[in-house]
Order: sequence, then structure tokens, then C-alpha cells
Amino acid sequence: MSADDQKRLAGEAAAQHVEAGMIVGLGTGSTAAWFVKALAARNLSGLRCVPTSEKTADLARELGLTLSTLEDTPRIDLTVDGADEIGPGLALIKGGGAALLREKLVWEASARCIVIADAAKVVPVLGTFPLPIEVVAFGHKTTGNRIADVLADHDIAAPARVRQADRGLVRTDGGNLIYDAACKAITDPARLADDLKLITGVVEHGLFLDLADLAIIGHDDDVETITP
Ligand code: A5P
Repeated sequence: MSADDQKRLAGEAAAQHVEAGMIVGLGTGSTAAWFVKALAARNLSGLRCVPTSEKTADLARELGLTLSTLEDTPRIDLTVDGADEIGPGLALIKGGGAALLREKLVWEASARCIVIADAAKVVPVLGTFPLPIEVVAFGHKTTGNRIADVLADHDIAAPARVRQADRGLVRTDGGNLIYDAACKAITDPARLADDLKLITGVVEHGLFLDLADLAIIGHDDDVETITP
């Protein structure tokens, strides 16, 4: 079974946690897309969905889901989203799809959060996947240097690199830039999260700590659930 099949199984299982009338946060990425498709297929009445990116909003709209915003529905019942890495205690790295700021805003507004992923995303130590850090464009090289200083303080030697696409620098839905920090091993995620947030110019980072209530992991023919 491919990783995509595992993602589909996890997305379908997560859709079973949604009940009619709920306000649901919709994550971003290929796994979250499977959840959105499975949710739309359930045709539950009275759902309102808060997407975490323009891409997810487009998909949800196409599938006929009713969209809302965090402004109109500030209390979300359940958010389901993917992750780039799932570590011990359900500490996560997110932001591979550059949606980490909206994702974190929606997660933090949610009574319950389920992370869904293929089996390869579960790791013993976070950091193999480069940590995405969203920064404002103004003075971003200065901010990048300050990120490097913080990483050095955490014994992480690799520099953070600004994310590029074919047509230039990647912009988030909010118009910001992303620096990716090849940390290799994040031994103290909570301290790194705090230190990154103190840098002027850093809008948010992709460490999602103490936010996931449940992980649903797709395997070859079944799903595994993990609690923190
Ligand atoms: C989006 O910004 C990320 O947080 C995604 O949730 C993450 O990149 C997972 O993507 P896939 O589901 O495509 O692996």
C-alpha cells in the first residue's frame, strides 16, 4: 500500500469523528485533502467548515461543504489536519505546505484536534523534517540571521534557508516568507518554540506542542490511534 493510501485511510477514519452540526477546522496538505473528501461524502447536515488555507477552501467549496471563517465561528468543535512529523507526546512539526500560521490559529481555537498521517510521519525525535518558520518579508535576512543564532544556541549548526519556488520566494496566504531550519534533532522542542517566538520578525513556527488530542495513523490495511 502506498503512503497516499495510508493517508486516505487516516482521513476516512477521522471523518467518522465528525457529527452533524459541528464547526470543523479543515487542515492543509494531501492527507487533510483526503479528510475533506471523506467528510463531504458523509453529507452531514449543519456543518460549517473553517479552512486553514486558500487551497483547502477551494477544495471544500468544490465538494459542496459550507465554509465559515474564524471571525464568524471563533469556537471550533474539531479540527483535523496533517503533519510533517509526529514525535513523542504528539509533538508535531507542521508547515510543509506553508499554511502553519492559519493552521495554528485554527488548532488553538478548537476544542479537539486530530492529526492524521501516513506511518512514515511518526518519529522518535523531531527534526529530520526541516522546521518551517514563518517570517515577515521586511528585513527577512536579518530575521534569518537571528533564527540562526537561536538555532546555534540549541546546538543546531545548520542554517535556516528561505523557501524558494520556481518563480521566486514562496509566499504564505498571509504574504509572509518561510524559513526552513534543518535541525536534524530537536532535543528540547518547548524551549526552541519559546526562543523562536521571541525573535521580532518571526510570525510563527511549525512546532505544534500540546495541541493534538489524538493521532490517526494510516498503515497498510488499518489505522492506529495514538494519544499524547
Ligand atoms: C501544511 O502547512 C502542513 O502543516 C501539512 O499539514 C503537512 O505538510 C502535511 O502534508 P501532507 O499531508 O501532504 O503530507
